[in-house]
Amino acid sequence: MKIDFYKVSETVIVARNWYTDSELQLIWGELDKICRPDIMQDEKTTNSSKMSDGSYVKKGHGIFLDELYLNDRSASEILKLNNKIFDRDFLNEAIKVDRSFTHIRNSKRDSTLLNYYEDGHKYNKHWDSSIFTACLTLWREPKQFIGGRFLIEENDFDVRSNDMVIFPGYIMHQVTQIEMNDNHTP
Ligand SMILES: [Fe+2]
Repeated sequence: MKIDFYKVSETVIVARNWYTDSELQLIWGELDKICRPDIMQDEKTTNSSKMSDGSYVKKGHGIFLDELYLNDRSASEILKLNNKIFDRDFLNEAIKVDRSFTHIRNSKRDSTLLNYYEDGHKYNKHWDSSIFTACLTLWREPKQFIGGRFLIEENDFDVRSNDMVIFPGYIMHQVTQIEMNDNHTP
């Protein structure tokens, strides 16, 4: 047997202004309640993988929301609103561009990890075990940090607050190190 390998390209979705203003209000209300040191977990607890030197790929806090809400998704505005990813019309548009997005339409399982970044935090290059990853970035305006760029295989799609990025989980991606402004307010 002779095996030939051919590289073809993947499609990345960047859906700008993903949530409406009223949806964002609900999300910020929930984030204000749960982005606290006694709720957020460290890299080890959120199963971050390790690099060759033994350090964690992620430097930051996070929590799996189904774990926090004990699988009661009705208790979380974020988890309820996440269903937008499975919106038929949205996915049909995506499938017209790339049929691989049928995997999202056929998905019967999803998991939401909330990551919270502060000064010096980052998420080094990694890939996910998911078939697809949907990643929403949020920060409060005016922006009080530099860095924190979301890159996919070195590509910078100018991801801004409230942009949703959807891509095959096996593609390498990262969040560059965040540097908070000297006079930032928490
Ligand atoms: Fe990831």
